[in-house]
Amino acid sequence: MTALIAGWTAQGASAQTPAPAAGAAPPKLAEEAFKNIQSLKGTPADQLIPAMQFISASLGVECDFCHVQGKMDVDDKKEKKAARDMIAMTNAINAGHFKGHREITCNSCHNGRMHPLGIPPVAQTDVAQEHGRHDAPPPASTVSAGDVLDKYVAALGGTEAIQKVNSRVQKGNLLAGGHETPIEVLSKAPYKRVSVSHTPSGDNVTAFDGVTGWMGSPGRPPRDMSASESEAAKLDADLQFALHLKSAFPQIRVGRPEKIGDAQCVALIGVRPDQPPVRLWFDEQTGLLVRMVRYSETPLGRNPTQLDFADYKDVDGVKIPLRWTIARPNGRFTIQVTDVQQNVPVDDARFTKPEAAAK
Ligand code: HEC
Ligand code: HEC
Repeated sequence: MTALIAGWTAQGASAQTPAPAAGAAPPKLAEEAFKNIQSLKGTPADQLIPAMQFISASLGVECDFCHVQGKMDVDDKKEKKAARDMIAMTNAINAGHFKGHREITCNSCHNGRMHPLGIPPVAQTDVAQEHGRHDAPPPASTVSAGDVLDKYVAALGGTEAIQKVNSRVQKGNLLAGGHETPIEVLSKAPYKRVSVSHTPSGDNVTAFDGVTGWMGSPGRPPRDMSASESEAAKLDADLQFALHLKSAFPQIRVGRPEKIGDAQCVALIGVRPDQPPVRLWFDEQTGLLVRMVRYSETPLGRNPTQLDFADYKDVDGVKIPLRWTIARPNGRFTIQVTDVQQNVPVDDARFTKPEAAAK
């Protein structure tokens, strides 16, 4: 799959600029950036690959299920044609039965399988099952979103302590598939962050330079993030995230309480105009953020990313998670920090996309 995406990044679409500035040219459309777009005409070019990731995750397949490597534009596989029919069918269901709202997606039927299951499974246990557990209305919440956020700020060490942090340098390991890769995560206010994992073949970089995000991997030109990826990277880049939550999300609702691991959690749902929601779970006892789930938009459905935070330690009067796990439909990894320094100088050049990528 990585090789196929590499083939794509070499194309024009990688030069997309996310988040068009006021007065800038409108974003490029998929049919302008790619060669053979029929079903997804009119969608922003930078959402085409996320849409492909959404399809792959919904069906539980890799790109080569529908594509021959190196010639993604060619219609040489019957599965690619079937997928076009399916896009038309899904659009028709939503238009005809759900007032044009995207209620049905590939995943509604496929649910991670090539062949949807039309028949319900038999019971696996003779213990009585709880029915409708997930559909019941949430119990009336006794807390307000504002209280939860205030408690979070206090649990971290308070507004003043958080405001004092203007840079953070973290070193540790990225853990995935039983392997450990050394990683550095550098943050600097306002909104700059870069994480660099040092793999044997070279450095993997995920960065936000204060305005846009970019990614780099060994042997390939760095690429700009899509507008949606960039938006997410900006949340991660904010050293004062806890203080900015109320202003970042004009509307914050309290969701269904839930247990995550051993922690009973309060859930909040943050809503911003023109963006998918962000869900946050706070430990009822400690007040700390335990999980965040955010989504990136594609024309076919939303791709989820889940971040789990653990191992909070006090560093200079501010609690920070030394361990976090990032999970997406196609994989997950954990970062374990072993060394933290704050308010040390960090060169701005560390966050800037290398010149080689210039258009
Ligand atoms: C289930 C089938 C399916 C899977 C899996 C799939 N694609 Fe696609 N792909 C399509 C279809 C259908 C189109 C054409 C969309 C249209 O007509 O608008 C397409 C188009 C593309 C294009 C545009 C090519 C061009 O120049 O016209 C690229 C690039 C692409 N896919 C990459 C990927 C990548 C990368 C993956 C894996 C993450 C992937 N696809 C997985 C069905 C699939
Ligand atoms: C309303 C239910 C439903 C939805 C929504 C749906 N599918 Fe399907 N899809 C099916 C069924 C049923 C089959 C036939 C399954 C089989 O062959 O066993 C199928 C078959 C397919 C196949 C052919 C698989 C093969 O083995 O050749 C592809 C590719 C596919 N779907 C892609 C998609 C994509 C992409 C979407 C979203 C745009 C989608 N489907 C949405 C129900 C659905």
